[in-house]
Amino acid sequence: MAGVKISSLELENVKRVKAVSLQPTANGLTIIGGKNNQGKTSVLDSIAFTLGGAAYKPTNTKREGSMVDPHMKIVLSNGIVVERKGKNSALTVTDPSGQKAGQALLDSFISTFALDLPRFINSNDKEKAKALLQIIGIGDKLAEFDREEDRLTSERLAIGRIAKEKTGHAEQMVQWDGVPEEPISAADMIAQQQEILARNGQRVQWKREYDRLLDESDRLDKNIEDLKNRLQQLEEQKMDVLDKLQEADKSPVELEMESTAELEESIANVEKINAKVRDNLEKEKARMEAESYNQKYRELNVQIDNLRADRMALLDGADMPLAGLGIDRGVLVYKGQPWDNMSSSDQLKVATAVVRKLNPNCGFVLLDKLEQMDLDTLSDFGQWLEKEGLQAIATRVSTGEECTIYIEDGYSVDHDGKKTADQGFKPAEKMQKAEPEIAKVTKWEAGKF
Ligand SMILES: Nc1ncnc2c1ncn2[C@@H]1O[C@H](COP(=O)(O)OP(=O)(O)O)[C@@H](O)[C@H]1O
Ligand SMILES: [Mg+2]
Repeated sequence: MAGVKISSLELENVKRVKAVSLQPTANGLTIIGGKNNQGKTSVLDSIAFTLGGAAYKPTNTKREGSMVDPHMKIVLSNGIVVERKGKNSALTVTDPSGQKAGQALLDSFISTFALDLPRFINSNDKEKAKALLQIIGIGDKLAEFDREEDRLTSERLAIGRIAKEKTGHAEQMVQWDGVPEEPISAADMIAQQQEILARNGQRVQWKREYDRLLDESDRLDKNIEDLKNRLQQLEEQKMDVLDKLQEADKSPVELEMESTAELEESIANVEKINAKVRDNLEKEKARMEAESYNQKYRELNVQIDNLRADRMALLDGADMPLAGLGIDRGVLVYKGQPWDNMSSSDQLKVATAVVRKLNPNCGFVLLDKLEQMDLDTLSDFGQWLEKEGLQAIATRVSTGEECTIYIEDGYSVDHDGKKTADQGFKPAEKMQKAEPEIAKVTKWEAGKF
């Protein structure tokens, strides 16, 4: 369904306008040209007031110096006729079936933005993006993505800092080679040492016993001579002692003393070794802690990538008012460019497309001050409007051929310099003469724009 457009327009005595009559092109650009202060903007203001109502009422609606009240009449493409006239510019809306209707009917198919495109154009990047998101119905979901991404990004930042700090710390800690992995125990070595000492004690006793028995044998040998009468007895005793002596005899190997020197040294070193082992264990613990933060950082990277992919998919799936339009980091972009970087023609396309999507029932926009656009840009924008089936009524400080119509001293004039609206004037107004200083336009290429 095509949106409603302006089929024809007649204005008298509104602001700077004396008498203007215009049939805008249904599809494409209608340019209202003329020098400064001739009443071009007054034409657009009058359209906005006629269709938009009280919010657009000019402070001085009636043209100063006019003997008669303002009169505005717009015929819309759906056949509805909108008129304002009289002292208070009273509204009459007549629909094709002849029934009268009011502002509410107009509001249903006239978009506020269509009447006041600068309101969109002059809004900031965030507001533009917001308008677009609300139109395509994914604003809430996208805001949720943005909040989630902000949360993950700040978490990643914090984790990244800790991971870096902990990794650096772990790297700086000392590490010892050639020590056991676990602390060793001095008690085990001491127990081993005690066993050896106990065995050595036994050996000392054996040695003492042996020596004592040798002494006794010697003493008895001496007594044998003195105690001949007790010889036999003593010889028996001696035999006995010799038996015992034999038993007590040990091999030189058995008598050799074992050394505990090595163990003593180890015991003395236990504390030094253990200090190194503890260093190594602490370093390993610090390394593992740093790694767990590094791991968490990598996980957050993946989460953020996924979130961005989901967000992209959401935008890709959205029904955009214009191909190439998107939202990047909360900012409206067209062909990848933010508003500031767009050509003025692209800015107008974006604004018009967004505004059309806001209210698809509305098929036109009003554009003031198009003089900053060169002819190629204007032509490009005009062709785009035609392709989109949209109507734009624009003003431009120019007396060139690109203009559809000119405003001179409040009158609309055609390319031949002829007034297009001097009918319907009250006699008093008809007396007024337009100064004939109209630009000499010889060629008029209808439909060029
Ligand atoms: N109610 C009014 N009656 C007469 N002149 C007006 C009225 N309101 C504004 N103007 C005059 O109209 C001129 C601006 O008209 P405007 O439509 O903005 O011209 P343009 O857009 O062609 O430059 C100013 O000189 C302003 O003083
Ligand atoms: Mg102007």
